[in-house]
Amino acid sequence: MNIAVLGAQWGDEGKGKIVDLLTPHVSIVARYQGGHNAGHTVYVKGQKFVLHLIPAGILHPGVTCVIGNGVVIDPHALFAELDELGRHGVEAGDRLLISDKAHLILPYHRELDLLAEARRGERKIGTTSRGIGPAYEDKIARRGIRVGDLVDRAALAEEVRENVEARNHLIGGSALDWRAVLDDLLTLGERMRPWVGDVSLFLAQAIREGRPVMFEGAQGTLLDIDHGTYPYVTSSNASIGGVCTGLGVGPRAIGGVLGVAKAYLTRVGEGPLPTELTGAMGDRLRDTGQEYGASTGRPRRCGWYDAVAVRYAVRINGIDALALTKLDVLDGLDAIQICTAYRLHGRLITEWPSDTALLAACEPVYETLPGWEAPTKGVRRFDELPAAARQYIARLEEVSGVPAAIVSTGSDRDETIVRDDSVVGGWLTARPRR
Ligand code: IMP
Repeated sequence: MNIAVLGAQWGDEGKGKIVDLLTPHVSIVARYQGGHNAGHTVYVKGQKFVLHLIPAGILHPGVTCVIGNGVVIDPHALFAELDELGRHGVEAGDRLLISDKAHLILPYHRELDLLAEARRGERKIGTTSRGIGPAYEDKIARRGIRVGDLVDRAALAEEVRENVEARNHLIGGSALDWRAVLDDLLTLGERMRPWVGDVSLFLAQAIREGRPVMFEGAQGTLLDIDHGTYPYVTSSNASIGGVCTGLGVGPRAIGGVLGVAKAYLTRVGEGPLPTELTGAMGDRLRDTGQEYGASTGRPRRCGWYDAVAVRYAVRINGIDALALTKLDVLDGLDAIQICTAYRLHGRLITEWPSDTALLAACEPVYETLPGWEAPTKGVRRFDELPAAARQYIARLEEVSGVPAAIVSTGSDRDETIVRDDSVVGGWLTARPRR
């Protein structure tokens, strides 16, 4: 069975760790959307790796990592990451495949991202300033430059000249020299060439041969361009549909869907967050959970677990089970709240409002559960968790509508509970480590 691992909240759910944990059981890890706005932090034997574009699978020898056509690639960021991995003794070699159809983030995209945010003023999105939105804009407007264009030089010069000149007009001030951009791209293209290929064909052949694939999402369902809190979203499909469009695989290739959710909630950037905690409790979660962006270092907004939001993510993605992360961050609290419904204009609602303005008007309805004294940090067996922590998880499962197959109790690979009787437990048993 191939498995998709994606975010069930607003990103930063700890997908990197879960992907890393499951990677020994697959042959291929394929990233389907987003760009270097993502930051997947993985700790291996105390060593911290932050990956932005390259799937965390790269840390496992023998695993092939795929970057699909749905991803937008800043070639400088890609090579910075490959160089950093190289310094830690991790070589991509022939284990990396980049879609020739993936679009590129060029210098003017970053400028345009900053400019658009400045123009929005009060209504800014709070983007990562990586040029993600403008690169996807060019893709949809059919004027983007793709990885394949770099290795096939014929039309490139003309396309770069047209694009740069049009953007210089918009950006004003520090005009870019299109020839310099072109030269840079040609050098980068040469370096990228060995890794460029037909991702859809590669995956089809691998799946036919029975090589298991993990589809790795970036950001989260509530940041999805279609199903998230528009316009406070990223510019790609972080939810399940992105797997098919972003890699060129059919829906039946996706065997199971694992949603990753924090045992509480965070969000970076602007937009509604009904369970947001702005006082001392928010600070407590931020400090204990080290809730600062892996890519930008921005402090994350923190709040209680929102079951309405997770139920919505379960519906949108067809999530089979959850990987619940950062349970240990709640250690030592007297009481913990779970949002199970919203109050909207005096009415109780249990379903996620489709309209972002309505969501902004929602007030959370909480249930209070007792906290636990004994630490959960590093616990590896479910029955060794404090009773109140087990009760908390059981209630989260009930109100979210799916079981928690994995519970993460710390940042290291080993600090994890995989429940044997769960979908993932069964999958792992059926699929021994390579
Ligand atoms: P963009 O993807 O840089 O355009 O940013 C759009 C929104 O998505 C902003 O609110 C960002 O903070 C958010 N965002 C983008 N990438 C991530 C991520 O990896 N984790 C969490 N939030 C993200």
